[in-house]
Amino acid sequence: MDILQKEVLYPKDVIKKRVQELAGTISRDYEGKELIVIGILKGAFIFMADLIRCLSVPCRVDFVRLASYGEGPSSSGRVVMTKDIETSIKDRDILIVEDVVDTGLTLSFLVNWLKERNPHSIKVCAFLDKRKRRRAPFEADYVGFTIDDGFVVGYGLDFNEKARFLPDICVIKE
Ligand code: IMP
Repeated sequence: MDILQKEVLYPKDVIKKRVQELAGTISRDYEGKELIVIGILKGAFIFMADLIRCLSVPCRVDFVRLASYGEGPSSSGRVVMTKDIETSIKDRDILIVEDVVDTGLTLSFLVNWLKERNPHSIKVCAFLDKRKRRRAPFEADYVGFTIDDGFVVGYGLDFNEKARFLPDICVIKE
């Protein structure tokens, strides 16, 4: 039973166009190179699947899973890795793919974690950016849409594991 009250913020056709644009920009930036694309589970899996199928540069994929503990409904405290990558990234070009940058704590943690392994480069592609909610200074290199505060679901994003499967990005209404 669906008891979440929500309204569509970005419908699937708008999402599709923006993902194609992002992939075009990334493909130009990495022309002649092979990327290692690292997705953050679970929320980024649909965005990442769409994004890499629009890239015109070759890539390998891997995933991490991160848990955050602290106050509040979204990640707002200590970040812990619960699943690491299984690929060597030394001297490689890395693109991290994330669903939402919120406080910035998750991505700050992950970028520092991966830098320890001496990649050639690390960039971040975030589908959504909640810029106003930063607690750690963090800038993604590629952003799909910048949004205001508010909790969104769909296109891989969940609310207590609900609504990930929705094809549109929807805002939960109070
Ligand atoms: P932060 O940037 O460390 O605060 O955390 C980002 C993570 O918080 C994302 O990967 C999501 O799992 C979660 N998150 C933040 N805002 C939302 C939202 O609006 N919907 C679903 N998940 C969210």
